[in-house]
Amino acid sequence: MDVAALDQALTALAGPPGTLLVAATAGTTDAGLIDPLPEIAGLCEAHGARLHIDAAYGGGLLLSDRHRPRLDGLDRAHTVTLDLHKLGWQPVAAGLLAVRDRDDLTALAHHADYLNAEDDTEAGLPDLLGRSLRTSRRPDILKIAVTLRTLGRRGLGALVDQVCARATDLADLVDRHPRLDLYDRPTISTVLFRPTGATDDTVAAVRRTLLTEGRAVLGRARPDGRLWLKATLLNPHTGPGDLAALLHLVELALPEGPTAR
Ligand SMILES: Cc1ncc(COP(=O)(O)O)c(C=O)c1O
Repeated sequence: MDVAALDQALTALAGPPGTLLVAATAGTTDAGLIDPLPEIAGLCEAHGARLHIDAAYGGGLLLSDRHRPRLDGLDRAHTVTLDLHKLGWQPVAAGLLAVRDRDDLTALAHHADYLNAEDDTEAGLPDLLGRSLRTSRRPDILKIAVTLRTLGRRGLGALVDQVCARATDLADLVDRHPRLDLYDRPTISTVLFRPTGATDDTVAAVRRTLLTEGRAVLGRARPDGRLWLKATLLNPHTGPGDLAALLHLVELALPEGPTAR
């Protein structure tokens, strides 16, 4: 997010406090980028705007002592989404909405006598109304609680550190590779790369070949108008050998095949 453009937009749209909502991202889907959260939070406070931060991907950095400082400013948001099916190693669904002010959940308040009769509520019987848009839902929190109990915050943080380190390794390998270009150093665990000089059609074909032949599942992203292959490293068991093997598979899928080295 461009902070100067945000400042201009908030100034131009000025209204009563709380009528504007800014949605920032901590971990973009395409490149894993983190918006400048402290600056954005400061602007929101100055302009009386609400701040939501989509930390679906990047929120997992909170678990790591090493990487947590990169989310400075997250605590200044009114609402934050986290998605623990990414850096939390959960099967879907594992999305959470965290609110700073409980009143933000009053929109979910609903009374249905068969579900939360007043006398039952007064007697302390629990129910999920007021906490979720859905009344019929799977107990998604159970697996998260089990994981936290088993690995603890530090255990999960170690996995975060590991996948971030693997992303750095992959970026290094791409950087040194004579036939691949690196988009940028990874912010979290996403690495974008493409065969040097390839057309977008070739990049797309390489990805589909690897997918349909059952060799590798790579994502795709167009951060600068060009098509890039995307590896989002989330498996803590991935080792340096796997990364080299992946790049070799990409080379094999190129129309001209691998280069003898
Ligand atoms: C940045 C970001 N936000 C949110 C989501 C999740 O959205 P949903 O719960 O709609 O799948 C994703 C991907 O799953 C994402 O990458």
